[in-house]
Amino acid sequence: MKKLNAAITAVHGVVPEKVLSNKDLEQMVDTNDEWIVSRTGIKERRIVNGGETLSDMGSEVVKEICKKRGISPLEIDMIIVGTVTGDHRFPSTSNIICDKSGATNAWGFDLSAACSGFIYTLVTGQQFIEAGKYKKVIVIGGDIMSSIVSYKDRNTCIIFGDGCAGVLLEPNNEGLGVIDSILKADGSGRDLLIQKNGGSAFPINKNNVEHPDTFVYQEGRSVFKFAVTNMADVSAEIMKKNSLSGDDVDWLVPHQANLRIIDATANRMNLTSDKVMINIEKYGNTTSGTIPLCLWEWESKLKKGDNLILAAFGGGFTWGSVYLKWAY
Ligand code: UT7
Repeated sequence: MKKLNAAITAVHGVVPEKVLSNKDLEQMVDTNDEWIVSRTGIKERRIVNGGETLSDMGSEVVKEICKKRGISPLEIDMIIVGTVTGDHRFPSTSNIICDKSGATNAWGFDLSAACSGFIYTLVTGQQFIEAGKYKKVIVIGGDIMSSIVSYKDRNTCIIFGDGCAGVLLEPNNEGLGVIDSILKADGSGRDLLIQKNGGSAFPINKNNVEHPDTFVYQEGRSVFKFAVTNMADVSAEIMKKNSLSGDDVDWLVPHQANLRIIDATANRMNLTSDKVMINIEKYGNTTSGTIPLCLWEWESKLKKGDNLILAAFGGGFTWGSVYLKWAY
């Protein structure tokens, strides 16, 4: 009997309507469209307009996935949410999404792995399916980065955007679904990309509420060096491990942090640009949201049996790659 795999059987994404363009940012900080496009590839990003929460977006993802698959939210066993900007410190955004979407038979939790949040949740959800315990697991990646970015800091506010997307995982015994993964972490990089205040080490109080440490801090140049090397290395590693050449890979689904990092990863994998999913120009870096938002946007182009390599690098540091065969 063939091994039981966890296969993606539906995908949906949600981005806020409000567009924040590079021109808008020129009015807020000392930057310009030419600098942002040439250094990052980003032209605009979406941000929430006040009131819209991650659980609102996540519950829409769950409801749409169920509609597409023709199932009731009551059939969902589990919802895992990769995020660093959940609605609250607790309860988990997963719990709130279960309630708002009507997935009231499901349990779940939030998982914190910054920009690697989606690949970490995907591999976590995969384990519950492969163990045979659950039949329908939804894994979501989403962040409302506008809630933790300072719009006075040009180093970070030009990069990030808001967005949320997710996939349904179901058992597959045709050899489709998640085939392999390599996940890594190195906490010694923690100070280079961090929201320092707001946790138990440095609670927010009246003295630090407006301090730069209360918002996202990134040492861009150092993170770039780690990201460009590690995302390319781990993608090459998973290809080698599975005897895949550039010709065998149909799609690279990279985390959208910087177009230069994406290009370097694709070059290392010997992929032509038409095999690389890129939407950074529209959405910027939505942290956990980038990879499932790409899957959602490219869904109509994907064919059953396509070989996909997902690759991410993020705060922690966390990084990794997933090799999967598209199942529908
Ligand atoms: O998603 C999780 C992982 N994160 C990443 O992978 C992000 C990795 N890092 C990057 O993508 C890039 O480092 C950035 C896009 C963040 C920055 O690009 P960079 O080419 O590394 O620029 P830099 O930080 O070295 O700054 C170059 C110059 C500096 O001026 P000086 O010191 O050369 O005079 C900055 O002050 O550009 C200046 N600068 C800006 N200028 C205009 C920094 N931010 C801006 C800005 N507009 N927004």
